[in-house]
Formats: sequence, structure tokens, C-alpha cells
Amino acid sequence: MSFRRKIVAGNWKMNNSLAEALTLVDGVIAHLDPNTITEVIICPSYAVLAPIHAHLQGMPKIRLGAQNCSEFNSGAYTGEVSAQMITSVGCQYVIVGHSERRTYCNESSEQLTQKMKRALENKLHPIFCIGENLEERNGAKHFDIVKGQLKNVLSTFSLHDLKELLIAYEPVWAIGTGVTATSAQAQEMHAFIRKTISELFSVDFANTLPILYGGSCNALNAKELFACKDVDGGLIGGASLKAEDFCKIISSF
Ligand code: PGA
Repeated sequence: MSFRRKIVAGNWKMNNSLAEALTLVDGVIAHLDPNTITEVIICPSYAVLAPIHAHLQGMPKIRLGAQNCSEFNSGAYTGEVSAQMITSVGCQYVIVGHSERRTYCNESSEQLTQKMKRALENKLHPIFCIGENLEERNGAKHFDIVKGQLKNVLSTFSLHDLKELLIAYEPVWAIGTGVTATSAQAQEMHAFIRKTISELFSVDFANTLPILYGGSCNALNAKELFACKDVDGGLIGGASLKAEDFCKIISSF
């Protein structure tokens, strides 16, 4: 277990109507250990952020994040949601570069750099997602891919800009598949990410940067993953939709 902040974030993806979302939040509140030292973040769909923020009043332990933001400030971009709008409904976090958006929406490093800029300008803490696909892992290219994803976006920024950064390592082959990275694979990559960050910025920054693991992390395997020296928590998809499981993951340090 690391000495860094411990963080568990739930990525609800495109799930839950307003009524279902409120029920899930109530479930998380009911099952959450009141003494937990883990920082808890939930990332529901844009549609329910404002009512969930209202619902969470008096629950400072659970913070709110969005799953994406526009690379633009405002204007004629039908269907897009700006970082400023996300801040205005009570979010403190935003996921940037999730592999589903990289794949289905062809988000490029240039776009992700702009999204990161908009997020930081609007005081959002980015949860920057990186990770290789199965072909890249099988071809032993995973370290190069992850290094490239980090460099292509983060090298535009200064250390000062990135104080609030979180990184999520999510191997694409583990997302939603039920196949989790082994704790050895997770630790190896998290240590590599930390080393890359220390080369790009500084050792001190790398040592304090929270790096979350994502990809079929659940109530049964979280303890083993979170016990790894360089794993500081998780970005949880499927298992964040069940309040009891999500809260067990939160208590897995
Ligand atoms: P999963 O998703 O936990 O369902 O694999 C993780 C993610 O995509 O963030």
C-alpha cells in the first residue's frame, strides 16, 4: 500500500436514469464506511450531474466528476458540454481520454490536450486515462504506447498546471471484459508510469501523483490490486453501478 492519497472513482458510463442515479447515490451513502480515508468520486452522465450534486449536499466525502468535456470553451458545437458548464453544476473532476472515447469518438492526443487545458482553466481535476489494447500488449508494445500517450498530452503542460492531475491506467483488454490485469502486471505498469512522469517532470511530483488502476476491478480483486506499491486506487466501471460492491472496493485498502 502506498503513502499517497487513496482514491476510488466510479465511472457510470451511459447508465442510469435520474431516478436510478439517485437510488444508486443513496445506496453508496448507506454503505459507505463513515471513517473511510479513501477519497470517493462518482462520475455519472452529464444529464444527472446537477440533481446529484444537490442530492449530495452534506456528504462532503463523495465528490462529483464528469466523464468527458469539450475541447472548446463555448459556441456552435451541438451536443457538446464545456468544462465551465461542468464546474457550474458542482463537479470537481473530469475524466479525459477514456479508451471508449479514444476508440468510438477518435479522440486524438491534440484534442485531449485541449480538453485537459479547458479542464484546468475551469479548476477541474483531470483523471487522465491511458492504456494499451490487446494487440499492443501481445506485441510487447505496451510500454511504448503508454509512454507515448503520456508524453503526447502531458508534455505541453508545466508542473504547476498539473498539480491536480490524476492518472488512470486502464488496459483496454481489461475494460468491461472480466479479465483483470494481474497485480504484477498492474504494479509493473504503474511503476513505469511513475518513472516516465519523473523523467517528464520531477521525482517529487511522480512520487505524489495518484495513479489509479481501471479494468474489471471489482469487490473481489480490489484488495490485491490496491496492495501494490504504485497502485493508489481504482477507476471502476461495472462494479460502481452496485452500491455495495462499490463501497467494498472503497474499503479495500
Ligand atoms: P470496468 O470499466 O470496471 O467495467 O472494466 C472501467 C472503466 O472503463 O473505467
